[in-house]
Amino acid sequence: MAENFKTSGWSGRFSEPVSEQVKRYTASADFDRRMYAEDIAGSLAHARMLKDAKILSVSDFADIERGLKQISEEITEGVFTWSIDLEDVHLNIERRLTELVGDAGKRLHTGRSRNDQVATDIRLWLRNAIDHLSTHLALLRRAFLMLASRHEDVIMPGFTHLQVAQPITFAHHLLAYEAMFARDSERLDDARRRVNHLPLGAAALAGTSYPINRQQVADELGFEALCGNSLDAVSDRDFAIEFSAAAVLIMVHLSRFSEELVLWSSPRFGFIRLADSFCTGSSIMPQKKNPDVPELVRGKTGRVVGHLMALITLMKSQPLAYNKDNQEDKEPLFDTVDTLMATLAIVTDLVAHGITPEPERMREAAREGYATATDLADYLVRRGMPFRDAHEAVAQAVREAETKNLDLAALPLPTLKRFSSLIDEDVYDVLTLEGSVASRNHPGGTAPEQVRKAIDQALAQLDAEKR
Ligand code: ARG
Repeated sequence: MAENFKTSGWSGRFSEPVSEQVKRYTASADFDRRMYAEDIAGSLAHARMLKDAKILSVSDFADIERGLKQISEEITEGVFTWSIDLEDVHLNIERRLTELVGDAGKRLHTGRSRNDQVATDIRLWLRNAIDHLSTHLALLRRAFLMLASRHEDVIMPGFTHLQVAQPITFAHHLLAYEAMFARDSERLDDARRRVNHLPLGAAALAGTSYPINRQQVADELGFEALCGNSLDAVSDRDFAIEFSAAAVLIMVHLSRFSEELVLWSSPRFGFIRLADSFCTGSSIMPQKKNPDVPELVRGKTGRVVGHLMALITLMKSQPLAYNKDNQEDKEPLFDTVDTLMATLAIVTDLVAHGITPEPERMREAAREGYATATDLADYLVRRGMPFRDAHEAVAQAVREAETKNLDLAALPLPTLKRFSSLIDEDVYDVLTLEGSVASRNHPGGTAPEQVRKAIDQALAQLDAEKR
């Protein structure tokens, strides 16, 4: 028996050894070793509970505690020998524990299975990852708010269909992204609540005949609740899928912003300058400065979306309870977290230090696009004209301005009066970009007064979220 365990951890009833090819195909130690700290924490909590429930002796527990501590040090120092003969992180650690402390090591697995063990490890790992991501997301939101507060009065064209629509402030545009990321934070918090349930105790699938105390293990590991049904506890990975979906939305929001940075920094737009440190040059065209960072954010969104598809597809049609398919949950999840973490960090730096608006170029674009046409229509409506008629009158005024190659505000009063006798000298107040923006003065509107309030509210919200 002892010899068998040395090679695989489960091969007692097998008459021939597993082939090298099968070993390589089925092993996960190369990637799941990343959960070693969680695996050790879970084992420690399990062993302590077994001791308190008198399932394990006090001296066996002391041996296990000492052995796991040493293993943890060996792994952090890089001197631990990993072997794919031992399939995964769980069996590698358990084998080493038995080498170090003998029989006590072999007793650790009493009342549990790798099925509830791995489900516990992945939940602990993901909970920790979510906490890191939430911190990074809060930093990103703060960077957006700081950039917005430096440019509350900068006016730019707002777009629909990528065509100039109405003037807005640059700060208002930035706050739209902060609002997306605020919802993303809520989604992470919400996903975390369902991640934070303890599977341990479900054992292989049906529970265990030992008098275990699951609540004690949950308390030691900081789980908010126990997973209920044991079959469900060891098999479903919906918590990972939910998290991935939240991660995808964050990447989607980041990719939308990145696309705007690419457009805005292009010479055609010229709305912003991106700091050189976030761009690269072309090896052949000396005039070029490429926005590589935002382009890569856009590109990396694809792979995070792909990981979500992988997780959903691996779960689909799995019969109860645990199946080896679930071993495939780790790499997509790890790469999702790594990609998102790196992306949040670099975009936060970019927003904090890498974006300089060019207000003159923005104004020019707003003027060329007749962005205040709606304001002229609203002016006529306030003077009694039905909106549809006003719309038509303004369309003709715009056509006139276009043929003369002039801004609406540059048309003389007699010319404007040709389109409606309701137009007076005060029309020029609404035709200016400042007048247009200032008039949208209600919660959620683009008036600088509202934008200032929105920034303050968002900052207060961020402070309130700090745990
Ligand atoms: N390496 C496995 C995984 O990641 C651990 C659980 C294996 N359980 C089993 N009965 N083969 O899912």
